[in-house]
Amino acid sequence: MQSFVQFTPTEIVFGRDTQKEAGRLVKKYGASKVLLVYGGGSVIRSGLLDTVKESLRAEEISFIEISGVKPNPRLSLAREGVKKAVDFGAELILAVGGGSVIDTAKAVAVGAANSEVDIWDVWMGKASVCKAKPVGAILTISAAGSEMSDSTVLTNEETGKKAGYNSDIVRPKFAILNPELTFTLPKYQVACGVVDIMMHTLERYFTPVSGNQLTDEIAESVLRTVTRNGLVAYENPQDYDAMSEIMWCGSLSHNGLTGLGRPKDFVCHKLGHEIGGMFDEAHGATLSAVWGSWARYVYHLDIARFVRYGKQVWNIEIEDEEEAALAAIERTEEFFRALDMPVSIGELSIGVQPDDVLRKMADSATRGGTVTLGAFRKMDAQDMYEVYKAANHS
Ligand code: NZQ
Ligand code: ZN
Repeated sequence: MQSFVQFTPTEIVFGRDTQKEAGRLVKKYGASKVLLVYGGGSVIRSGLLDTVKESLRAEEISFIEISGVKPNPRLSLAREGVKKAVDFGAELILAVGGGSVIDTAKAVAVGAANSEVDIWDVWMGKASVCKAKPVGAILTISAAGSEMSDSTVLTNEETGKKAGYNSDIVRPKFAILNPELTFTLPKYQVACGVVDIMMHTLERYFTPVSGNQLTDEIAESVLRTVTRNGLVAYENPQDYDAMSEIMWCGSLSHNGLTGLGRPKDFVCHKLGHEIGGMFDEAHGATLSAVWGSWARYVYHLDIARFVRYGKQVWNIEIEDEEEAALAAIERTEEFFRALDMPVSIGELSIGVQPDDVLRKMADSATRGGTVTLGAFRKMDAQDMYEVYKAANHS
């Protein structure tokens, strides 16, 4: 078994009505002043925000708020949040929403605890920090896994660059997971979420390091569970059991458990972030649009791994190894199609792109061609370009 560190400090409170626990949990983690963060209005329309505020008032916790977080959350709003949090003296940043809201809350938490640095310098690796304000999350969409992850992704709207910052300091102290809070999701967002959860697992499953059997089996189980329930949830986003399974898969897929003892790959995430940053496409859609092209570009490096994936997740029994590996890739794309998710750049709302855009994205992902990405296969700017090119059809 490979050596590993497992650090999952987030208290999970799962089930119906758990949003009413918000005040109690904030108090438990020592805060009496909170900055509430939310998005474009779904939490107002559903009544969730009022419930959370009521719960905070019941514990005599004072709060201010910042709203308007957009998908592919913007750096400027996070900076605004930092200022508010510092002026107010916020002791905890409470996210009510999805990955974009939680990531904004994490960014505010970093900025508020280190007011001498600009957060984008931290995101760009130009400044390093070792503390953040505590973060709590009340999740409304199963997708990004930010409620337990060490990651926060922002988009600098001035440059179109989308980038993540990873550190254990941003892992939330607690996360409230009530599947009922996801019942109001548009079907498109349910589908994007299912893809993202799969990708967090697949991008840890396809790595060059073997061993840790349990990690493999957990990953395969997450993939089986999220695909099975994904189709049910896509048909009926009010199915409590299906939404519950997806929600828990989302948290486990990205808290580290599905990749213990191995390097992460995450090339498809890098490919997707360039599309998301430049064109503001939904994260999950950018991933399904490139995964098949990435997989066909690299599968020959470890055909047995793709065969095992096909067998364990999709019940594919084909004797010829190469055929079986390719069938696993095809089957995954069929699943994406069943969720009406794009499997090419041309199927995204931006459509097929000119060659210079693909070059620009490949260059930006690799920081001007200065770094290689990934682990299953190390990818340079030319490799990234080749994957974009293979995906660039209708
Ligand atoms: O803004 P509101 O009105 O709330 O609407 C949101 C938004 O338009 C809506 N929504 C969320 N919950 C809802 C709802 N609508 C109705 N009912 C509900 N219950 O859904 C839309 C998408 O929300 P968003 O927060 O953007 O979704 P998601 O959780 O997919 O987050 C995506 C962001 O997370 C990043 C992505 O790159 C992207 O920027 N990621 C963060 C990660 C992390 N921190 O660990 C890892 C991921 O790989 C990912 O990169
Ligand atoms: Zn993701």
